[in-house]
Amino acid sequence: MITASAPGKVILFGEHAVVYGRPAIAVPVTQVKATASIEPGRAGRGMTILATDLTRAMHLRDAPADDPLASIARLALAHFNAPEPDANVTVHSTIPIASGLGSGAAVSTSIVRALAKFLSRPIDEAALSALVYEVEKLHHGTPSGIDNTVVVYARPVYFVRGRPIQTFSVKCPFTIAIGDTGVRSPTKIAVGDVRRAWEADRARSERLFDRIGSIAERARAAIEAGEVDALGPLMDENHALLREIGVSSDELERLVSAAKEAGAAGAKLVGGGRGGNMIALVDVSTREPVERALREAGAKGVIVTNVE
Ligand code: MEV
Repeated sequence: MITASAPGKVILFGEHAVVYGRPAIAVPVTQVKATASIEPGRAGRGMTILATDLTRAMHLRDAPADDPLASIARLALAHFNAPEPDANVTVHSTIPIASGLGSGAAVSTSIVRALAKFLSRPIDEAALSALVYEVEKLHHGTPSGIDNTVVVYARPVYFVRGRPIQTFSVKCPFTIAIGDTGVRSPTKIAVGDVRRAWEADRARSERLFDRIGSIAERARAAIEAGEVDALGPLMDENHALLREIGVSSDELERLVSAAKEAGAAGAKLVGGGRGGNMIALVDVSTREPVERALREAGAKGVIVTNVE
């Protein structure tokens, strides 16, 4: 049996504005991951894909054109110029879906990596990221490409749509608590609403995106200089702008306020918003109180991770 995996991700600064060409910063979250296993199947049966949260395996040849798991498998086979193998793929993910942690990109990445190993066809990161981006497009409409990039490269990235990826170094490691509202919110819906607002009043949206882009730039400089104290206020500022854009929610506001009251240096929603996850900047003394406060305020899960 061959297995391959990919981590989750979190956007530290710049979501939504990144779709409109502004920079954003994202990091991998290795505590959660998607894993694909593949083993030879019965001769002539073709490929089946089983997601462990679904009850049945689907045959690749019968799967609808827009099924995300089948789409990435078809794209990968076309890329490898390989016929459909007789093989059974099983996908398992600990990344909560539709919650801003990159579960779709991680699942796709793990499937391509497993197929590459199974077929003995190496694939480099750029080609892999491009394949995963194709599936993101099917499901997000106008994705910036940041999710597939950080999940595939599994390194902190400074991302500007359409430009070569830039990784950067974290001078002083810092810690974030990631709180899950438990509310599933497909990225596509929030991204679509942001687009409608942009179409209705471009000048207003562009002004908000400019301010978010400038926060991402200042945050990168602070991270590279080891100025962790600067990051909390930048998170707060970024969150306030995301709220103005209209992608926060009562549940996110509750978790962000709880984290701040418990001593977090800054907090913001992450990813598409309207639900999903938020992050809070913590240190050795605030980590436990913030984690507790998040749970008391209704967080369905809390992951504490170091950015380094
Ligand atoms: C989703 O993880 C991040 C968004 O900025 C959408 C995108 O970049 O494609 C909301």
